[in-house]
Amino acid sequence: MSQYHIKSLEEYFQVYRKSIRDPETFWEEIAEENFIWRKRWDKVLDWNFSNAEATWFQGAQLNITENCIDRHLPTRGNKTALIFEPNNPEEKTQHITYKQLHQRVCQFANVLKEKGIKRGDRVCIYLPMIPELAISILACARIGAIHNVVFAGFSATALQTRINDCECKMVITSDGSFRGNKTIDLKGIVDEALKNAPCVETVLVVQRTHSKIEMNEGRDFWLQPLLDSAYKDCAIEVMDAEDPLFILYTSGSTGMPKGMMHTTAGYMVYCAYTFKNVFQYREEDVYWCTADIGWITGHSYILYGPLVNGATTVLFEGVPNYPDWGRFWQIVEKHKVNQFYTAPTAIRALAKENLSFVEKYNLSSLKVLGTVGEPINEEAWHWYDDIIGKGNTPIGDTWRQTETGGIMISPIPFVTPTIPTFATLPFPGIQPCLMDEKGEEINGNPANGRLCVKFPWPSMARTIWGNHQRYKDTYFSTFENKYFTGDGALRDNTGYYRITGRVDDVIIVSGHNLGTAPIEDAINEHPAVAESAIVGFPHDVKGNALYGYVILKETGESRNHDNLRKEINQLITEKIGPIAKLDKIQFTSGLPKTRSGKIMRRILRKIAHKETSNLGDTSTLLNPEVVQEIIENAL
Ligand code: WTA
Repeated sequence: MSQYHIKSLEEYFQVYRKSIRDPETFWEEIAEENFIWRKRWDKVLDWNFSNAEATWFQGAQLNITENCIDRHLPTRGNKTALIFEPNNPEEKTQHITYKQLHQRVCQFANVLKEKGIKRGDRVCIYLPMIPELAISILACARIGAIHNVVFAGFSATALQTRINDCECKMVITSDGSFRGNKTIDLKGIVDEALKNAPCVETVLVVQRTHSKIEMNEGRDFWLQPLLDSAYKDCAIEVMDAEDPLFILYTSGSTGMPKGMMHTTAGYMVYCAYTFKNVFQYREEDVYWCTADIGWITGHSYILYGPLVNGATTVLFEGVPNYPDWGRFWQIVEKHKVNQFYTAPTAIRALAKENLSFVEKYNLSSLKVLGTVGEPINEEAWHWYDDIIGKGNTPIGDTWRQTETGGIMISPIPFVTPTIPTFATLPFPGIQPCLMDEKGEEINGNPANGRLCVKFPWPSMARTIWGNHQRYKDTYFSTFENKYFTGDGALRDNTGYYRITGRVDDVIIVSGHNLGTAPIEDAINEHPAVAESAIVGFPHDVKGNALYGYVILKETGESRNHDNLRKEINQLITEKIGPIAKLDKIQFTSGLPKTRSGKIMRRILRKIAHKETSNLGDTSTLLNPEVVQEIIENAL
């Protein structure tokens, strides 16, 4: 029996039980069934959660691009690997076959080598959703360089931090990017970031928008001429199972983003396995995930998971509302998309628009729908189910994190019965548990607690780049011997999980993870600001929006408040990016603090949620009188 592709609920339970009873045999059989190894592993798993350590397939050797590309050449060489759908629907779609992908990745890899990039070097990729983004990632992996993709909506400051933290030697960018009817000056942002990033020796520039840009002589090179003269074949670098594949930054509860480091073999095996099952991918299918490759969803489920399975995956450069709100459905019809994977925030935004945007298009190709990134509310789930899925297309509500690499809890379509808003059951090999406030595991159902995982899985991050202590402190210290996710969840009587949201200082806005601390740091840099605190509040499209409470210095008090609000949001845009802008800014004379000086965010959150009737005990506050003032002036 192949365990790799689960076809019934009974089989799921059988496979799941086996994966718990004998995890090493379970993963070994999966690894044997589907991949190309240059050398077999000596040991499947070694782990010690008290040191935040796990290794998978130790001793094995492989290259992930051989698994993503080369091995498909004899059987799928002329099959489309990537469908590139440009921002502008008038521009020609590109179909890139596995054979062409092979050649383009090889040429790019040779350019990297020519520019001095070697195994283990870090390369920062700051590109829009164009084929070169996928190709440059694979080119890095082919020669063993570690890619650090930074979402091209981040600001120069955020980019600079992410370049310096892991000391990238090279940046790959473009002259600009198209987003809807806007053109963004990406190269200008890179130039700004590199004003203080001495580690970067070379910048490769893809021509996309034909904007006028500055080229810094000796540092910046147009990519195309280099590709044109590059050799069309490039041998793989044989990598060890635990060699780093990539670093991807995610927000944390302190100012510094966390560079989550993922390694090669376990990540590949787990992404391939989950892709096959979550999307029930069949050979002729066209799969589309609307995420940006700059996030973990894009790494695992636009690129690596689909390609390892020899799939056809769509790469969309644009936005859902350009040229109008029918764009997603136009693309589904045009490419006869079979699996469609998006974020709840996009569904909510689309559901607000006129139904005619959907009805114009034929969506009958759709077989499986998916969502990821934040809890999906019931209304959005039903709209997705009724209007897009026509009531007969299963929806996978998939829970995962940058840290987990792959999808952890999700229905398997046609196998797991779904319930709106429930991510349902863990994948084989995943052992979730719920913990109470006292640090005890809650056994039995129903249960409500903090979501942890008590056993390693192959695609888990191995560390935070350069700071293992922080990795341990953040994820493995709250509960002994458990990986703590930062999420709350409940488990119903049948064992189904529903993720209820973050229980820490991370707020998810439009599916983007935002730590409160870096935003507060940005606000506090404004010369008129003394102190600030950020909380989330419910928003009907974004899921959550940001509410800032700001204390002004004496010098700021006489200033026009609307202007100050604009300046604060401008500062946030510069330091982090427009995604972190505040929807509401309330100026206040103080913030509720405990006697040890900690801001009581619980109270601020309730006020932002307009739930002021039950604020709980405020008598232990250092300054209880400030609470009344904040309530009276709440926005
Ligand atoms: C949230 C995004 C509810 C969760 C892929 C997690 C979800 C955080 C779901 C990770 C889901 C992701 N239901 N919440 N199906 N999927 N989340 O690292 O809070 O950007 O901890 O990865 O997104 O965000 P990250």
